[in-house]
Amino acid sequence: MDRKLALVTGASAGIGAAFARILASHGYDVALTARRIERLDALAEEVRLRYGVETLTVAADLAEPEAPGHVLDHLTAHGRTADVLINNAGYGLPGTYSETLWTDQAAFLQVMVTAPCELAHRVLGGMRERRFGRIVNVASLAGLIPGAAGHTLYAASKALLVKFSQSLHLEVAGDGVHVTALCPGFTYTEFHDVNGTRELASSSTPAWLWLGADEVAAAGYEAVEANRAVCVPGAPSKTIAALAKAIPDDWALALMASQGGRFRKT
Ligand SMILES: NC(=O)c1ccc[n+]([C@@H]2O[C@H](COP(=O)([O-])OP(=O)(O)OC[C@H]3O[C@@H](n4cnc5c(N)ncnc54)[C@H](OP(=O)(O)O)[C@@H]3O)[C@@H](O)[C@H]2O)c1
Repeated sequence: MDRKLALVTGASAGIGAAFARILASHGYDVALTARRIERLDALAEEVRLRYGVETLTVAADLAEPEAPGHVLDHLTAHGRTADVLINNAGYGLPGTYSETLWTDQAAFLQVMVTAPCELAHRVLGGMRERRFGRIVNVASLAGLIPGAAGHTLYAASKALLVKFSQSLHLEVAGDGVHVTALCPGFTYTEFHDVNGTRELASSSTPAWLWLGADEVAAAGYEAVEANRAVCVPGAPSKTIAALAKAIPDDWALALMASQGGRFRKT
């Protein structure tokens, strides 16, 4: 098999589907995973016909601890290994921490933190041996600014992905493996419909703050090719990330206290 294979999690919608199209357009075969298999199969057929690449689809719920192993076993069973890993699957869990169920928070951590870390751990050895690899951890601008009230572990989980990506980026420097944390701000996908904040977010934020999923995925692809550790797509989000670094932490937190209610549900 001459072509390299890209594994994309959360490929049934939004940024993940956009990544799958971009990777296929650059000649990668794609392995697509998410829970909604019919969407994965439709996207697989689309990119197969359009770009002439090979595709694999595998249904998996990343909240289940055995899912990362199951997904990679599926690739092995087809004689393939992941040369590119896009850790993208994710969602938001609205609410005040003490009023949510621990089972929901534990599932959230499994999807947002443990699964991407495990997938990276499982594919990295092979990437280093072959001296080629690309890993994009889709984090968020939320991981670069203070946490807000509500969706309590979201910013924390994304901050972990940023630090994890930076450490990994340094560990594999010189091995032909590039690691990037992609930190988008507001992006037009199904994300805000799934967590019930569509109306809140779109009525309280200006349109110029938002990017399309294609622009975000394209920025992530360019950044990982260029081996940049962190990528914040779009000038408005870049400015917010820079401001959050430049001002004292307690000012940034005070700003979040006054603005967070515009896009987070407690
Ligand atoms: N949209 C934004 O404003 C924004 C901003 C910054 C960062 N992000 C991050 O971008 C990533 C992609 O989100 P998106 O905006 O593209 O949202 P989206 O359109 O809702 O897509 C989310 C994807 O994640 C998958 N997913 C969710 N839970 C899963 C689970 N338990 N197991 C397996 N797959 C699961 C979904 O597939 P199934 O439902 O089919 O399983 C879907 O393919 C997320 O990590 C999100 O945190 C989004």
